[in-house]
Amino acid sequence: MNNREQWGTRAGFILAAVGSAVGLGNIWRFPYVAYENGGGAFFLPYLFALLTAGIPLLIMEFTLGHKYRGSAPLAYARLNRKSEWIGWWQVAISFVIATYYAVIIAWAISYTYFAVGQQWGTDTAGFLFGEYLQLSVDPGQTGSLVPGVFIPLILVWIIALGVLFKGVKRGIEVANRIFIPTLVVVFLIIVIRALTLEGASVGLNAFFKPNWETIMDGKVWVAAYGQIFFSLSIAFAIMITYSSYLPKKSDINNNAFIAGFSNSSFELLAGIGVFAAIGFMATSTGVGVDEIAGAGVGFAFVVFPEIINTFPGMNGLFGVLFFGSLVLAGLSSLISIVQTYIAALQDKFGISRTKAVAFGGGLSALISILFATQGGLFFLDAVDYFINSFGVAFAGLVSVVVVSWFLKQLTPLQKHANDISDIRTGTWWKVCLGVITPIVLGYMMFDNIKKNLTENYEGYATSFIIPWGWMVAIGVIVVGIIFSMISWKPGMLEEEQTEANKEVGQ
Ligand code: ALA
Repeated sequence: MNNREQWGTRAGFILAAVGSAVGLGNIWRFPYVAYENGGGAFFLPYLFALLTAGIPLLIMEFTLGHKYRGSAPLAYARLNRKSEWIGWWQVAISFVIATYYAVIIAWAISYTYFAVGQQWGTDTAGFLFGEYLQLSVDPGQTGSLVPGVFIPLILVWIIALGVLFKGVKRGIEVANRIFIPTLVVVFLIIVIRALTLEGASVGLNAFFKPNWETIMDGKVWVAAYGQIFFSLSIAFAIMITYSSYLPKKSDINNNAFIAGFSNSSFELLAGIGVFAAIGFMATSTGVGVDEIAGAGVGFAFVVFPEIINTFPGMNGLFGVLFFGSLVLAGLSSLISIVQTYIAALQDKFGISRTKAVAFGGGLSALISILFATQGGLFFLDAVDYFINSFGVAFAGLVSVVVVSWFLKQLTPLQKHANDISDIRTGTWWKVCLGVITPIVLGYMMFDNIKKNLTENYEGYATSFIIPWGWMVAIGVIVVGIIFSMISWKPGMLEEEQTEANKEVGQ
């Protein structure tokens, strides 16, 4: 069974990994999460999480995928049959994320169109929640389907599944070769323009000014880890899956550093661009930066249109560029998210890519319609928060604890990566994963769970938060355990692992 698909080139893999990492998380999610968690106070936990957990975990996931040559469930099963459920848990998290992620790309497609002539008018919040999303129901109710969201959503799924049907090299790699360079150029134009606007420094001050009162709050740390994991596409099966298509002779550590730092640079750039523009708007309208930078998940769709309205010239063009870049960044990530369960289905059930895309991708497309209803935004907000705080961040924590403490696999994994990489990781890598991340993230996770049990997220009713928050977070674990009970085809758990090890001389 040596017919696993493969990337065409090293650059192709790096572009795909960066394409996966750079996504809505960088442009849509990071600015509001950073701001809601104390602005400047967020940076310390963010940098700490990046250096002690993000990059080390990225290396671990690249190594797992490369060494065991499988989707997340297969890689974890080959590592140790008892850890397979973690792979399925992460795949299930990806499945949930895909269902709402696609909807945000759909909003971005609509907004690329609305940007022409600023069809959102002057009351951008009223436009988003009223005219566009038609949010007139209570949290937990669906109301009717919103055609303005549903139609671009169909387009999103046609593109994403269309690319996935074509496979790793001819689909994913080709798409990223087009999307990522375009995205970088477009985004640079936007950020440079934002920085040269009058009042940009006011926004940057608000963004970078530390808020020390919040620094010891577990919520802020979990948000920082959650953001790093979400943004780097780790702990939800993606990087394991992508690296399983690497040729045997590949540089693991260097690729991880390139992908990790490219992503965080892009994220900071996006934060700087967004807040510079906010500063400009605050200065030109006389409103405080705090009042502008609200709106949570609606942030990019409320604040940016407002900023574009106030732009001194070429408003439509900048609107199209901004929302167009959101679409490009989102699509390349969505493709990687869906690829996790396509690969898992192929590996476990031995079905063709076409069938896996049709069933797996098709099912997530169907479920995503829930978020295109009148009550969709409430579902999206709750699911996004819980799946990140108690899904992605928690799965990251459990994976490092299991791999380092229970299975004691850090040393063999490190040896595998170091043997084939230019940069060799030292003891710091094991300390970060085996000691720092479990302690810091473990404590913060505990603190945050306590907080969420005493106080409902965003003040939502308990009857809403239980099914759409807690049950989703717990549900993905249950799904993970159930899928891991299904047996593998005979021989599946041994063969490729030995092949890969032979090649690097183990
Ligand atoms: N890493 C992807 C993002 O940032 C999922 O959006």
